[in-house]
Amino acid sequence: MRNIVLIGFMGTGKSTVGKRLALSLAWDFVDTDLEVGEITNLSVTEIFRRYGETRFRSEERLVVQRLSQQEQMVIATGGGTVINPLNWEALAKNGIIIGLHATMEEIISRIGHKNDRPLLKGTTEAIEKLWSERREFYEKADFIIDTTQKDIDEVVSEILERLGRMTNNEFTCVSKD
Ligand code: S3P
Repeated sequence: MRNIVLIGFMGTGKSTVGKRLALSLAWDFVDTDLEVGEITNLSVTEIFRRYGETRFRSEERLVVQRLSQQEQMVIATGGGTVINPLNWEALAKNGIIIGLHATMEEIISRIGHKNDRPLLKGTTEAIEKLWSERREFYEKADFIIDTTQKDIDEVVSEILERLGRMTNNEFTCVSKD
């Protein structure tokens, strides 16, 4: 059984939704940012601060390579993971790619006040620019779910419903929690 890969801009709900989705399917959940953190023993912010984005991207690349060889995992990616075509290719080869979307307004209200995303430190205009540069990548997902003003359960049910239609109910939901 293939993996389920969540992609999308920062703050679209990839990790929160991914955890709940994995629970529903009794699959393992993994977050590429946390994996990078575990391997390097540093937070994403610390890697960016000490070594810069290039180092972060190369650690992320190694994590993606490893995870894309596994099965039955819900993988929450970082917002920039699939911008690298090699990451996209590896994840898509062995997984269904689901894009999570939210309006810029909602993204800013969800995460604008937090301090743990190095690429969100710029002005709102800079963030919007990054978002619009990346849209075309996110839009290549197998399907897209809008998470704006929805709670986690609603998003997870929508995903399960779409997955069911796509795969003739190959995905079995084991819990509603
Ligand atoms: C990034 C998003 C972050 C993290 C890093 C870079 C990006 O992950 O990977 O700060 O390039 O958009 P989230 O999307 O989980 O915030």
